[in-house]
Order: sequence, then C-alpha cells, then structure tokens
Amino acid sequence: MAEEPPTTDLITLTRHVLHDQLRLGAAATGDLTLLLTAIQVTSKFIATNVRKARLINLVGLAGETNVQGEEQKKLDVLSNDIMVNALRASGKTAVLVSEELDDAIIIEERNRGKYCVVFDPLDGSSNIDAGVNIGTIFGIYKVRDGSKGTLEDVLRPGSEMVAAGYTMYGSSANLVLSTGSGVNGYTLDAALGEFILTHPDIKIPPRGKIYSFNEGNSMYFHPPVNAYLKSIKYPAAPKTPYSARYIGSMVADVHRTLLYGGIFGYPDDKKSKNGKLRLLYEAFPMAFLTEQAGGIATTGTKRILDIVPAGIHDRCPVFLGSKEDVQDLMKCYE
Ligand code: AHG
Ligand code: MN
Ligand code: MN
Ligand code: MN
Repeated sequence: MAEEPPTTDLITLTRHVLHDQLRLGAAATGDLTLLLTAIQVTSKFIATNVRKARLINLVGLAGETNVQGEEQKKLDVLSNDIMVNALRASGKTAVLVSEELDDAIIIEERNRGKYCVVFDPLDGSSNIDAGVNIGTIFGIYKVRDGSKGTLEDVLRPGSEMVAAGYTMYGSSANLVLSTGSGVNGYTLDAALGEFILTHPDIKIPPRGKIYSFNEGNSMYFHPPVNAYLKSIKYPAAPKTPYSARYIGSMVADVHRTLLYGGIFGYPDDKKSKNGKLRLLYEAFPMAFLTEQAGGIATTGTKRILDIVPAGIHDRCPVFLGSKEDVQDLMKCYE
C-alpha cells in the first residue's frame, strides 16, 4: 500500500492561537498572540543553547547564588537574560517575575504592555550537565483594570492567569500551552523553525500507574504522604503496585504525567515547611495545565490555583495528575 504524502497544511502554534483569538471576536486584540510569539522565540533560542551547551562552554556554574540560595548554572543565567530581553522588547509586558531575579521587573513606560509574565527560565538545572530533559515554565496574567503594572498584578491566585505553559527541551523541543480552553502540545520542527501542533487537546487519563516523588526524602515526609506511598506500593490484591518514575525536572515529570497519567508530588516535609517548588512560576502554571487537562492539582488539603501569593518567591506543596490518583492522595490527608 502506498504511503500517504506529508501534509501540506501545517497547524503552527501561532496559527492555532490566532484562530482561537479570532473565535473570541472583538475582545481579542492579538496582543496575547504577539506575546506568545515572543515566548516561542525565547524557547527556540534556549533550545539551541541547550543543544550546544557542552560544545560552547555553557555547562557548569555561573558563580552566583539566586534569591533562593541555589547556585546558578550558566544556562540558568543565560536563559533568564534571553527571556527578560525578549519579553521587554515585545512591548506586551508590564511586570516580569523570574526565579533567577530577587525582585520583579516593572517595565518602563515606552515598552509597556498589559501582560505580566512569571517564569522559571530553566527548570531542572541539576540535570543540565547530564544532558537530561530540562525546560522553561511560564504563566501569564493580564494587568488589573486601570493598573499600569505593579507587584499586585502578579500577587494573585493562579486561577486568574490567562495562559500558562512550558517548553521541554528533550529529544525534541515540546511547547505545551493552555490559554484557558484546554491544553495543546506543539513540537518544534527545527528545519522550519516553527512549533507544530502534534498533541491536540491533551487530557490526563483519569487514573494512571505511575508515581513520581523524590522518595529519598521519605524520612522527612509527613504521615499522609508515607501512607499514600505505601498504599500504591503494597496494594491489596488484585491490585498491582505502581511504577516509580522521577526525573527531577518538574517539566519532564509533569509532561509525562499529562500524557500517561499517574501522580507527581513534591510535598512539604519536616525539613521544608512549604515544600520546594515555587508557587508563581512552577506550581501555578503546572496546576493550570493540569486542571485544563482534566486532572487535579492540590497541596494535599487545598486547590493550588486558589492560593493567594504573599511574595513572588513563595513556595507550596504540590500534588498533581490523574483525578482518581490525586483523590486517593487527598483521602490520606482527611
Ligand atoms: P529549578 O532547576 O528551576 O531550580 O527547579 C528544580 C525543581 C524542579 O525541577 C524539580 O521538580 C525539583 O526541583 C527536584 O528537586 P529534588 O532534586 O529535590 O528532587
Ligand atoms: Mn533553581
Ligand atoms: Mn524549576
Ligand atoms: Mn529554574
């Protein structure tokens, strides 16, 4: 049987988002599409640097420590600079928050737009030097009516984000995005330089068979978490135990969870009162995507997207994934 010829009708990310905006009618100005174009360029730029890192002396430490006390890698700093420059130049942003910057950037008037972007420029930095999947995470708020862009515009619950997504730098670069009506995944065609729709309307299976926790921290975990882990590792027959998969890059662990189902967790524990993951630019965007894909994202006792951040670098416990798996976890907290 003859093979089908390749399609001549590619759905690029820009085409897809524009189509969505057109559907919204007069309310849409195209500004979000332009902002997303700027974000796509940063992802392509970061992806090429990730690929070349070993060859152009981009592995290893930058020599500085960030506000969370982590030693910055060269790629953390480079990715941050790429994003700040592109987002400022886009003319569509008012406030920027980055994991790698102590303070929020309030964009000067001549470049100012109406969106606020919170981002983790490079997620999974402990995996960089081993060539393991890493990524970029972002969330987007629109400034409140009448605001020119202040800290208050980003100290808002995640449910008020207008879009969120991530790009995973793996065997290919994958951008996964939600503008509030479902989740779509796009793969970078490096020859074209375009993100092409490859994963339309991602839905998390209602139950999975995989758990993704850093179990090396078990001795610090609180009883509900250990009780849950025990229940999936030693289930009563005829159930069989879950498989463990933990990469240590939130982007990669969440990506797998969205596609295959199961549960990802980074709990608070006896050592870290609020866990490790940062609310604004890690937990919120991933919770937004998870809910849009039909899953649940919780701290164990409350919905992540309802939390009101007090500071831009706040942390929170995170459990997300398949509806039934996360519900089982939540029962351990009752
Ligand atoms: P980042 O590299 O942006 O600082 O984020 C690291 C985070 C996240 O990617 C991952 O889920 C988690 O740290 C892994 O932490 P452990 O090494 O403690 O498991
Ligand atoms: Mn970090
Ligand atoms: Mn991160
Ligand atoms: Mn990071």
